Amino acid sequence: MAKITDIKSQSLQEVNQTQTVAELEEFRLKYFGKKGLVTSMLKGMGSLSPEERQVQGPAINALKTELLEAVESKKNELELSELNEKLKTEKIDITLPGRPEEPGKIHPISQTIDELVTLFGDMGFALAEGPNIEDDYHNFTALNIAEDHPARQEQDTFYMKEKKDGAPLVLRTHTSPVQIRTMMDKNPPHRIVSIGRVFRADYDITHTPMFHQIEGLLIDKNINMGHLKGCLIEFLETFFGVKDLPVRFRPSYFPFTEPSAEVDIGCSREDGDFKIGKGADWMEILGCGMVHPNVLRNCNLDPEEYQGFAFGMGVERIAMLKYGIPDLRTFYESDLRWLRHYGFRSLDIPCALNKTSGDA
Ligand code: DAH
Repeated sequence: MAKITDIKSQSLQEVNQTQTVAELEEFRLKYFGKKGLVTSMLKGMGSLSPEERQVQGPAINALKTELLEAVESKKNELELSELNEKLKTEKIDITLPGRPEEPGKIHPISQTIDELVTLFGDMGFALAEGPNIEDDYHNFTALNIAEDHPARQEQDTFYMKEKKDGAPLVLRTHTSPVQIRTMMDKNPPHRIVSIGRVFRADYDITHTPMFHQIEGLLIDKNINMGHLKGCLIEFLETFFGVKDLPVRFRPSYFPFTEPSAEVDIGCSREDGDFKIGKGADWMEILGCGMVHPNVLRNCNLDPEEYQGFAFGMGVERIAMLKYGIPDLRTFYESDLRWLRHYGFRSLDIPCALNKTSGDA
């Protein structure tokens, strides 16, 4: 017993004399390590006689508890003083600039849509919307697209489960059905643009199964091809930020317009460098025409009384041309490095008309 009391007073003294956390750990190992003093006393209890064990057992356990408590409180004390010492000597340089978090960028498609809405808004066009899942009637029939037109063939169109009444449903293949919805919904005059997703079963460097189109429709009395040309030339010059941009209207065919035209803009492709503006080449940019009398009739309008023009173009295509983005598929790969490079700061005014390259 005397031995235990001695050990206790000596060890408590030792704990108090330790000066660092490392020294305290040395102490702990001396008493509580594998071959530590207290550890072997605990182990030795097994070989004591029951009488001895009755006396020594509680004393050894009490020693263990008291010592461990002393170690714990000394540890707290030492850690605190070591921390205080550190705080006194170590200086944090608060004059160093922080690392700014990079703000997000606006996707070139969103930016281009904002520009289109602003630009056509300035010309008096309101925004119209239609569903992505269309019925066959709005997507094809009402637009004067005959049963045997190739656009109806399955390789282009995503067909959905049909409606309850048996009417076929499709993922709209173009934004033109919004023309029909607009004319059926309200009385003329109409002056709308509609921007949204369209779907075609196609995938390569210039095609993705989902892309965006902008559709325009203007219906009023005494509307002629001159109005169509004036409106589109004005749009193209403003959108691409090129004054006197060469624009060419080429006769074409669409089932829903008559006459129909495809529009090209002048460009140059010298030494692999593509430039919009004057040059020897042409680049096709959109489809347009005077709304076909059959389409007007399908929407209960009298072609003798009302006429109008319509146009449609791919948003990705004009974004690629304006901002120099070479591969269509990259728009939808969600690669942050791509977005940081081609994206726009949110403070850029929506209609950054004079820009000709992406704002990195
Ligand atoms: N809907 C046509 C397409 O997807 C584009 C188009 C051409 C729309 C002529 C029009 C138009 O409104 O008049 O290819």
